Amino acid sequence: MKSFSRSANHIGIDMGSSQTRIFSENRLLLDERTVVAVDSKTNEMVGFGTDAIIRYHSNPQRIRLEWPIRNGAMVDYYYTKGILTYFLKKVLKQALARPEIVLSISSGLSSVARHALIDAVMHAGAQKAFLLPVAAAAALGQGIRLDTPDVVLSMNIGQDVTDCGMFSCGGVIAQEQVVFGGRTINEGIQAYMRESLQIIIGMDEAESIKQDMVSVVEDGLDMTFAVHGRRVVDGVSVVMQMTSSRMYPIIQMYLEPVAELAERIIRQASPDMAEDLLKHGLLLTGGTARLSGLDKWLANRLGIPVRVPEHAEISAVMGCSRTLDEYKKIPDLIESGEKYYGRN
Ligand SMILES: Nc1ncnc2c1ncn2[C@@H]1O[C@H](COP(=O)(O)OP(=O)(O)OP(=O)(O)O)[C@@H](O)[C@H]1O
Ligand SMILES: [Mg+2]
Repeated sequence: MKSFSRSANHIGIDMGSSQTRIFSENRLLLDERTVVAVDSKTNEMVGFGTDAIIRYHSNPQRIRLEWPIRNGAMVDYYYTKGILTYFLKKVLKQALARPEIVLSISSGLSSVARHALIDAVMHAGAQKAFLLPVAAAAALGQGIRLDTPDVVLSMNIGQDVTDCGMFSCGGVIAQEQVVFGGRTINEGIQAYMRESLQIIIGMDEAESIKQDMVSVVEDGLDMTFAVHGRRVVDGVSVVMQMTSSRMYPIIQMYLEPVAELAERIIRQASPDMAEDLLKHGLLLTGGTARLSGLDKWLANRLGIPVRVPEHAEISAVMGCSRTLDEYKKIPDLIESGEKYYGRN
């Protein structure tokens, strides 16, 4: 990997399926939806992030929303470049130097997808671009070193994707991603309400039930809550009652692929490493790490401690903005865009 130059602005970007975050010099510079507003008549991009949502609500007949990142991967090059260019301009304002950018990515991203992402970042105005797997980035964001013999186990659960990685001595012991995230849980809640109460609920209702009423493990508070939806039979708006205790088994069932992913990664640990894992446990980050009781449920299931840090959803982007010297210690984990460009 070529070294970073000290003179350039160095910024970290985490472009997630739902949220894009930019972090630099201990500050979160931007935290907006990864969305573009497009004028359906002209097909022009007319707004990005928060602004895109405002534009959409002001004229939903004419403006549509496009989400250029799905399941952690870019699905539209043109919109991704547009949104990156706009966000970079917004955070850099009058800065003269083009920035060096470290982007967190899902570990399963193909080399074609990596190439396209690097290309979009370079066209958006980067001077140099580097890619860092999100599970490694999230650990760095907590100040955890990845270049020592200690084994680090990290899992990031976002809206669409879950990434898990085990690292030691600056390298990867095992890492993998599965298509699972907060969206999967919301869809599960929608399906359960349809089955058990025969009502159709919207994504926003499912999101607020998930955040306020659902716990993955029994917490002794069996709350009864109102569910707003439309009856399947006739579409009439109704309010029904549900209890939080009925939700545990459902949520646990949906979380099964997450536990299985962690188990597959942990199985790659040697007996020595297993001791380390027992001591240090699993670092759990990403927006979905905030799901109530998820840490307890996983700890019980895996038999190791699970820690959710404060600001779990920005840990990865914080890791992308670490000091330049730290990246020099993990050349096998950080990938230079030079590989695709031949000139970074
Ligand atoms: N308090 C909470 N409880 C449960 N889930 C939450 C909470 N707060 C946020 N989330 C979920 O976190 C998810 C977003 O997480 P994050 O911002 O890490 O995703 P992302 O990086 O945009 O997506 P991805 O990494 O999948 O591409 C959403 O699905 C949201 O519902
Ligand atoms: Mg993410």
